[in-house]
Amino acid sequence: MITTVQQHILQEQRRFPHASGEFSWLLSAITLATKMIGSKVRSAGLTDIVGAAGDVNVQGEVQQKLDVYANEVLLHCLSTRASVGVLASEENEHPKIVGHASDDAKYAVVFDPLDGSSNIDVNVSVGTTFSIMRRPDGASCDEPERWLLQPGTKQVAAGYVVYGSSTMLVYSVGLGAHGFTLDPSIGAFVLSHPNIKMPKQGKYYSVNEAYAPSFPPGYAEYLQMLRDGQVNHPYSSRYIGSMVSDFHRTILKGGIFLYPPTSDNPEGKLRVLYEAFPIAFLCEQAGGKASDGTNRLLDMQPTSIHQRTPMVVGSQVEMELFEKMV
Ligand code: AHG
Ligand code: MN
Ligand code: MN
Ligand code: MN
Repeated sequence: MITTVQQHILQEQRRFPHASGEFSWLLSAITLATKMIGSKVRSAGLTDIVGAAGDVNVQGEVQQKLDVYANEVLLHCLSTRASVGVLASEENEHPKIVGHASDDAKYAVVFDPLDGSSNIDVNVSVGTTFSIMRRPDGASCDEPERWLLQPGTKQVAAGYVVYGSSTMLVYSVGLGAHGFTLDPSIGAFVLSHPNIKMPKQGKYYSVNEAYAPSFPPGYAEYLQMLRDGQVNHPYSSRYIGSMVSDFHRTILKGGIFLYPPTSDNPEGKLRVLYEAFPIAFLCEQAGGKASDGTNRLLDMQPTSIHQRTPMVVGSQVEMELFEKMV
């Protein structure tokens, strides 16, 4: 018998005893939005949804049409949930206070509507990430930063959808990481990977080698050890350029994904709130470890909405060696 993500979240409600189903209602806004995004991704070559939208976003990136579409769909779907008070997105410079952000608004949702935008036009898998924070006690509706700028350990839920050979949702409410595959014949995300546990060690490392000359000391020696088979077996390299896809391989197969500081991005490229935190949360829930290159990523206290960080996530063996060497 199938288990849909709605059924699953209701079963997991025990973490939110007083949530009375509002959390599953919130999550259903995300699943609806990602089904709509997935439908556009899958027909991208046939409709006028590929290519640049023309504007440059707050990141300094040329927005792709699918970035804009995905962003609008998520903002719209989430704005209809009374439990949501604040929304923030990679594609919006400032957070949005949702219309009815009154006393019963309990959550802030932050998301990367389309991760891996550079891959859209060449038909390589892309994703969507999201992270959910609880409204801090006493936080008013006109101080959205207070709702958002909390350590990663404060996330009440996080997840991603990868639009790959199938469309998969992986999410956690802190009770393990669980994978659901979209069954197009019924339009539902169906439980396919219950309680994902990373292998202790993988066989791939994943990093953009083009930037290797500017990695900080220690990274080159670490990667060479993996290549040379000094850690039980020689590693192969896989790098897709969509963080969600590179991490999805890592959470299922083990291994390590790194985006180190580089000369172009000395603070790292990936954004703390809507890329690093959700991935780090899921990584730990699956038994892996997540670092900012120096410390546990989830312990980070962000100071701005679009703050960037170095990121190193992976399975136990690779991460313990990294922490020793770098
Ligand atoms: P986004 O498309 O949401 O802006 O994110 C792109 C990110 C991430 O998906 C990926 O891991 C990284 O950019 C790839 O960066 P490089 O092309 O510099 O390797
Ligand atoms: Mn982008
Ligand atoms: Mn991204
Ligand atoms: Mn993006």
